[in-house]
Amino acid sequence: MRALFVVLKPLCFLALLGYCPSATIRPKEGWQVYSSAQDADGRCICTVVAPEQNLCSRDAKSRQLRQLLEKIQNMSQSIEVLNLRTQRDFQYVMKMESQMKGLRSKFRQIESNRRTLLTKNFQELKGKMNELQPLIPVLEQYKTDATLISQFKQEIRNLSLVLTAIQEEIGAYDYEELQQRVLGLEGRLRNCMNKLTCGKLMKITGPVTVKTSGTRFGAWMTDPQASPNNNKVWYMDSYTNNKIVREYKSVSDFVAGVESRTYNLPFHWAGTNHVVYNGSLYYNKYQSNIIVRYSFESGRVTTQRALESAGFHNVYPYTWGGFSDIDLMADELGLWAIYATNQNAGNIVISQLDPLTIQVLNTWNTEYSKRNAGESFMICGTLYITNSHLTGAKVYYSYSTKTSTYEYMDIPIHNQYFHMSMLDYNARDRALYGWNNGHQVLFNVTLFHIIKTDDES
Ligand SMILES: *[C@@H]1O[C@H](CO)[C@@H](O)[C@H](O)[C@H]1NC(C)=O
Ligand SMILES: *[C@@H]1O[C@H](CO)[C@@H](O)[C@H](O)[C@H]1NC(C)=O
Ligand SMILES: *[C@@H]1O[C@H](CO)[C@@H](O)[C@H](O)[C@H]1NC(C)=O
Ligand SMILES: *[C@@H]1O[C@H](CO)[C@@H](O)[C@H](O)[C@H]1NC(C)=O
Repeated sequence: MRALFVVLKPLCFLALLGYCPSATIRPKEGWQVYSSAQDADGRCICTVVAPEQNLCSRDAKSRQLRQLLEKIQNMSQSIEVLNLRTQRDFQYVMKMESQMKGLRSKFRQIESNRRTLLTKNFQELKGKMNELQPLIPVLEQYKTDATLISQFKQEIRNLSLVLTAIQEEIGAYDYEELQQRVLGLEGRLRNCMNKLTCGKLMKITGPVTVKTSGTRFGAWMTDPQASPNNNKVWYMDSYTNNKIVREYKSVSDFVAGVESRTYNLPFHWAGTNHVVYNGSLYYNKYQSNIIVRYSFESGRVTTQRALESAGFHNVYPYTWGGFSDIDLMADELGLWAIYATNQNAGNIVISQLDPLTIQVLNTWNTEYSKRNAGESFMICGTLYITNSHLTGAKVYYSYSTKTSTYEYMDIPIHNQYFHMSMLDYNARDRALYGWNNGHQVLFNVTLFHIIKTDDES
């Protein structure tokens, strides 16, 4: 059972040590926020140092301070979102825990009355129980995650209180340095949050049918890098002989069929494995192993590059065919291409791509035959592969690019309309987008993570 859990480290969070008007700070240095240190528990420490009051100019820069405060408020909002997500997982885990505890007490009853059981059954049950035992401390640890997040929230709240107090007490100073540090801190916080949201796939729920439209095969998606209030949907029906991308302002516009734009791509696409990432569409050009990057903003192809030695045009498709040889996808860590090569005997190859240049940054070879894979999707640098596009499909195999190891697994996925031609994870929504036989569907995923506060990475 231990192998079931991913250990995430380090956990960074913001510990505000307070602002200390100190004689050692020269006035022109302004405020400083140090966010580099890690304490013994592996936490990131943030220290705000304010200049001595009488040494500071009173030039009003309250606008900058206000922005800074707003930024911190935004950070707390992000934490709020994270908190909600974690609580969802937490509830699932709690349910599992109580089920296990129930099983344990039932087991004790049975044990005290064991003559009623055949020895063989009893041994089997006992074996199963023993396998489950290590899960209990793991669940205990999971509970501490929720505590850490609320601590995180408290610390952000404290930081903004201190900043407000400073603003009231001593007016405004030269904030540029502080602003830079807060920007850095924000980036670090985002990294920390990504780590917090990352975890191992435990369960897939749904689907929810968003819309019924198009042919049996197609793709629809949102941009995981878009800002929270940008919910544009892109829609690419059919796997061949098409180059029209339809854009909708929101999911509700998509459901209502209110298009906001259409794009006529310069080249036809192959398959259904396109991805929109950071404002660009990445797709496989028909009858080639060329990946095209098309910018929605400029309406132009900005980059094209061949994915060296990748099979194409139904040489190494997924089980359903449809020129699905090259699968482009994005997760928390960036942009990826999933394909197969002769060199790797038709088995799945994972490459991380530079979103700007489409150059391959890193490559991993798996031992899972691409032609036997139903679909695949990436979460937090781990590739999950389903064994079929038909009824009864399950997530069957996973490959972690972090450890370069694989694992067999058994996570059912409800293939409601019997034929799945697209399945991709969206890190922002933490959902799987699917094209299920002319139905556009969404699945929720439950990710399980353990955070260790000691830094091993
Ligand atoms: C805070 O978030 C709002 C809405 O997302 C945005 O308009 C604003 O620019 C953000 N403020 C800062 C300082 O990042
Ligand atoms: C936040 O400030 C309150 C009141 O000053 C203090 O009790 C608490 O320990 C602080 N929390 C953190 C996490 O720093
Ligand atoms: C997204 O695009 C913007 C410019 O459009 C760029 O500054 C940023 O680095 C890109 N982000 C990623 C993750 O590629
Ligand atoms: C996913 O979970 C959220 C929160 O519980 C819920 O609002 C949403 O409807 C679910 N979506 C799917 C596709 O199941």
